[in-house]
Amino acid sequence: MGTLAGKRIVIGVTGGIAAYKAVEVCRRLVDAGAHVSPIMTKGAEHFIGRSTLSALASEPVQSSLWDEESPIPHTRLGQGADLVLVAPATARLIGAYAAGISSDLLTATLLATRAPVLVCPAMHTEMWEHPAVHDNLATLRRRGVHVLEPEAGRLAGGDVGRGRLASPEAIVAAVERLLTPADLHGRTVLVTAGGTREPIDAVRVIANRSSGKQGYAVAAEAASRGAHVVLVSTVDLPVPAGDVQVVPVETAAQMQDAVDRHAASCNIVIMAAAVADFRPVTAASGKIKKDSGAPQIVLEATPDILASLGAHKPAGQVLVGFAAETSDLLANAQAKLLRKNLDLIVANDVSQPGVGFHHDTNAVTIVRRHGEPLTVSLSDKREIARAVVDAAVAILAPHSEP
Ligand code: PMT
Repeated sequence: MGTLAGKRIVIGVTGGIAAYKAVEVCRRLVDAGAHVSPIMTKGAEHFIGRSTLSALASEPVQSSLWDEESPIPHTRLGQGADLVLVAPATARLIGAYAAGISSDLLTATLLATRAPVLVCPAMHTEMWEHPAVHDNLATLRRRGVHVLEPEAGRLAGGDVGRGRLASPEAIVAAVERLLTPADLHGRTVLVTAGGTREPIDAVRVIANRSSGKQGYAVAAEAASRGAHVVLVSTVDLPVPAGDVQVVPVETAAQMQDAVDRHAASCNIVIMAAAVADFRPVTAASGKIKKDSGAPQIVLEATPDILASLGAHKPAGQVLVGFAAETSDLLANAQAKLLRKNLDLIVANDVSQPGVGFHHDTNAVTIVRRHGEPLTVSLSDKREIARAVVDAAVAILAPHSEP
């Protein structure tokens, strides 16, 4: 299950044209498994219908301090929340919250909660740049309220400028970040991603089908939990958000060199890359011409990067391998775990539909040196990454130095 599964989120919607985007935010949060309780201000009702938000949220919209069943609704929602989100937040709401004024259900909820609060302002550029709004937001930030700044773009009435509500994707990503445990704060995690390419000549390579998606998902998960991530990568995917340092490589030798330079100072090393097992003994410097007939390509074994890491593993470091198998999944994975001196190995049966190379999904069994195997059925690669990082964190000694 994802970060948001089972989380109780209050979404406060105030009166601005961007209120329509709150509907999409609400839908995404519910789809991700959160329990969403919506509050609308009177102003919001000028822009979207209560029934729209009620239909998509986990419970009906509330907006009054007085006509709810509970005698104390103003504290109930705030006290039970894991997070309170206000999107869009008008200048009025921001001012009332900064001043500690509780004049409606939303401001009362904001004052009654101890949960993290994420405020997503949206207003015209002149209002956004007004010193009063600026000061009020500074006050909220000082008190620990999180603010997702508006974007520049088209505003109501045809104006263009800064003040447009952040996108629903950005809002949901910010909510996820706030609800993700920062259990890797201060830790360094090395992740390898993608398939190595071993040159045959100036234009041809021996490659494999790895897209790098699983490795990048692991890097994104570790970074979202506060780690400094060194991502040794053979592919050119968007760099995950957070403290991620990409080290581009192409061949197994380059990957080994990059891994060897960084691994000793890492708390966790996760080898998700598909490293070629064989490479041509020599690579022709030019393009091999086809008129001389099919060339004889002599192969040699590449270095086993993971086995070498296992042989020199610093005390306290958690070493994680992946195993791409097509038969005897658990027995093969278990043998690799022991042979390469790993703490965990993530076994995927890449002969199964939707599993392994190139797909957006994967299904794995995480084999542990100590403990029963953990199975994660077919899921998004980020979900798999979460389970892998959870398993690594569970055996990471507190304050361990690699
Ligand atoms: O990149 P995607 O398209 O998202 O696909 C994900 C994946 C299928 C590549 C990934 O889930 C995966 O299984 N990665 C490991 C693939 C692999 O090389 O498996 P292996 O069983 O051959 O190797 C076992 C382990 O040894 C791996 O951690 C590998 O990185 C490492 N190894 C292998 C050979 C070698 N010379 N050096 C190594 O370090």
